[in-house]
Amino acid sequence: MSKKVKVSAPGKIILSGEHAVVYGKPEIIGAINQRLEVTIKELESSTKSLIFSSQEPSGLLEFGTKKIFKILGKYPKKALEICVDSEIPIGSGLGSSAALAVAITTALFKFFNQTIDRKKINEIAYEIEKRQHGTPSGGDNTVVTYGGFLWYRKETESFKFFKPLRFSSDKLSEFVLINTGRPMETTGEMVAIVKYLYNRNKKRVEEILNGIEEVTRQMLIAFDQAETKKIMLAIKKNEQLLEKLEVVSPFAKRIIREIEKKGGSAKICGAGGKRKGSGILLAFHPKKEVIFKLTEKWSLPTFEVKLGEEGVKIEKN
Ligand code: MEV
Repeated sequence: MSKKVKVSAPGKIILSGEHAVVYGKPEIIGAINQRLEVTIKELESSTKSLIFSSQEPSGLLEFGTKKIFKILGKYPKKALEICVDSEIPIGSGLGSSAALAVAITTALFKFFNQTIDRKKINEIAYEIEKRQHGTPSGGDNTVVTYGGFLWYRKETESFKFFKPLRFSSDKLSEFVLINTGRPMETTGEMVAIVKYLYNRNKKRVEEILNGIEEVTRQMLIAFDQAETKKIMLAIKKNEQLLEKLEVVSPFAKRIIREIEKKGGSAKICGAGGKRKGSGILLAFHPKKEVIFKLTEKWSLPTFEVKLGEEGVKIEKN
């Protein structure tokens, strides 16, 4: 029988710390219950061709596959069909590219009978992420690899610190995600926008980044104490600082202001978007229905999400 391998990896949500994490600040990041699946099938064909099937348009799958062959020094003996099937919206802040990088790496490890070593897989996925993001923090691929919630910090290129967080809070189930539309900019472009701002006014941007670090610490305490008001306040402050970094579009700001008026709070999560859509918003309200009612008015896809889910795993065929 021809060989077949199936692997799934989760998407991610940044509770606090996006963009600042690129500058060595901490972030709180969690794996979610929307997953991406990679299937590798060996074909009975005399040519050693590779057939890719994926919704993502950027060629990341092909790039990643060839890079992993090179790193492992292993190449398939027969033709392979590599398919991606994903529930994670592409380029919208939920870690679709990290999930793809981690899943294809794990699938090829399994295909070539390598030990499933999460540390190695994470390192390779980080290298693949560089093609997509330029200078990624490495947080996305790390949480996709290990799952759960992480306190993550990139100290230097070669030293990235992370520790699992255990939140018992039922407040986590009160989050709602709103899709404001796929940003016109890529994550790499959004990171470059912040870099440009930083180079123009280092002092001001450093103040903003320090502010985000403080809010991330407040968020940690708020979850530990399961304090709704503190959680909402931390989200609101985080959003204000992200707006100062110019990564939130006028459209997303309008939605967020309305949620705030109704007693909730919301922030972009991930790189954001400047011109039209800002990707996914992480919204919180003690009564979720209030958010659903609001977003119905704008016809924006809104859904509940489970946080702290399992990292990459091998699926049964
Ligand atoms: C992207 O999901 C989050 C950013 O902080 C970039 C990164 O961490 O690499 C914007």
